Amino acid sequence: MRTLQFLALGAISSLAAAWTPSPGCQLQGLPEGQTPGSFHNATVDGRRYLVFVPPEYAIGNPAPLVLSYHGGSRSPENQRDLDLLTDPDFNTHRMVVYPEGTPRPTCESDNTCYKRYWSVDPGIDADDKSFTRDILTAMKETYCIDTDAVHATGKSQGGGIVGSTLACDADLAHTFAAFAPVSGSFYTDVDVCEPPYEFEIPCDPHRHDVPMLEFHGGQDTTVAYSGASRRGVCLPNIPYWVEQWAVNDGISHEVETTPLAADTPNTYITRYGRGRKKGLVTHVLAENIAHDWPSTRTNSDNEGAVAEFDATPLILHFFDEHPLKKHGGCHG
Ligand SMILES: *[C@@H]1O[C@H](CO)[C@@H](O)[C@H](O)[C@H]1NC(C)=O
Repeated sequence: MRTLQFLALGAISSLAAAWTPSPGCQLQGLPEGQTPGSFHNATVDGRRYLVFVPPEYAIGNPAPLVLSYHGGSRSPENQRDLDLLTDPDFNTHRMVVYPEGTPRPTCESDNTCYKRYWSVDPGIDADDKSFTRDILTAMKETYCIDTDAVHATGKSQGGGIVGSTLACDADLAHTFAAFAPVSGSFYTDVDVCEPPYEFEIPCDPHRHDVPMLEFHGGQDTTVAYSGASRRGVCLPNIPYWVEQWAVNDGISHEVETTPLAADTPNTYITRYGRGRKKGLVTHVLAENIAHDWPSTRTNSDNEGAVAEFDATPLILHFFDEHPLKKHGGCHG
C-alpha cells in the first residue's frame, strides 16, 4: 500500500514539473487595489515599469511572463500599443511588463525635455541588466509566475537590448527561456565598420540552445537590413547576426528558407536546426516593410502601410514552444 502511494505521488510531482511556480504563488491574491485585466506602474531603484495583469490571472495557475522593451525615444505605453501583447485577441493569460528606458535631454537648456533610450545606444550609460534582474525578482515575488516561461521581446533599441544585452548575459540567458527582437539595433563596438558588416560579435551566453526569433523589414532605413555605420558604431548585417546565433546553438548548417505563408508573397521565414531543434533560431524577413512592428493593423510605426502578417502571435507561439528546459534536455 505504502509503495503504491509513493508511486502515485511520484506521478503527480513529475506532472507538476511542467511549470515552476514563483514565490508569489504563496500569496493570497493580487496586491491591494489590483484586479485581473489592469495596468499598474511600479518602480525599482527609481526606474519605472508598467505591469499588465492579464484577465485570466489566478493564484494557483502560474502565468507566463513577457518583458517587452520599447524603442529608442519611445515609451512603455507606446510599446504596449505597438506589440498588442495586452490585446485580448492575442493574449488573455500572460503577464506583460514594459520597462522604461533612461532619459536623455533632447533640447538644450530645458531639462523637462527628454526622450528615453537603452544602454545599447552609444550615448546611454545605464545598467539595464540589473534593472531587468530587479524587475524579474519583484515580479516573481509579487505575482504567481511560471519561472520556466519568462520571455523577452522588444522593438528597435528594445530589440537590441533583448538580442545583444540580455541574450548574451550568462545569467539572464538562463533566466529568460527565449528571445524575440523586432527590427533590433544590435550596436557593436568594432574598429572598422564597413560592408559587408560581418564582424565578430561579442556574446557569451554560456548556453548552446538559446531560442532566438528575429523580425526585420527589408525597407528599414533606421536599422538597415544589410548593416550600417550609425552613431559612430556599427550595426551588423542582419542575416549574418541571426546566423551567429545558429553558430552559437550548433545548427548553422541546417537552414531552410520558405515563404512565411501562402498569402504573404513578400515575407520569408528562415529556420535553423533539424528535428527537435528545428526553428530554434528563426528569422522573418518582411521585404516590403520599414522600421515597423509587423502588424496587419495600422500602428504608430506603419501609419497605415500595414504588413502581410502579425508578428505578435508568431512571437507568442515561439515562446510557448520554448520554455526553459530545467528538467533534463540539452541545457548548458
Ligand atoms: C504610469 O505612469 C505614467 C508616467 O508617469 C503615466 O502617464 C501613466 O498614466 C501611469 N499609468 C498607470 C496605469 O497608472
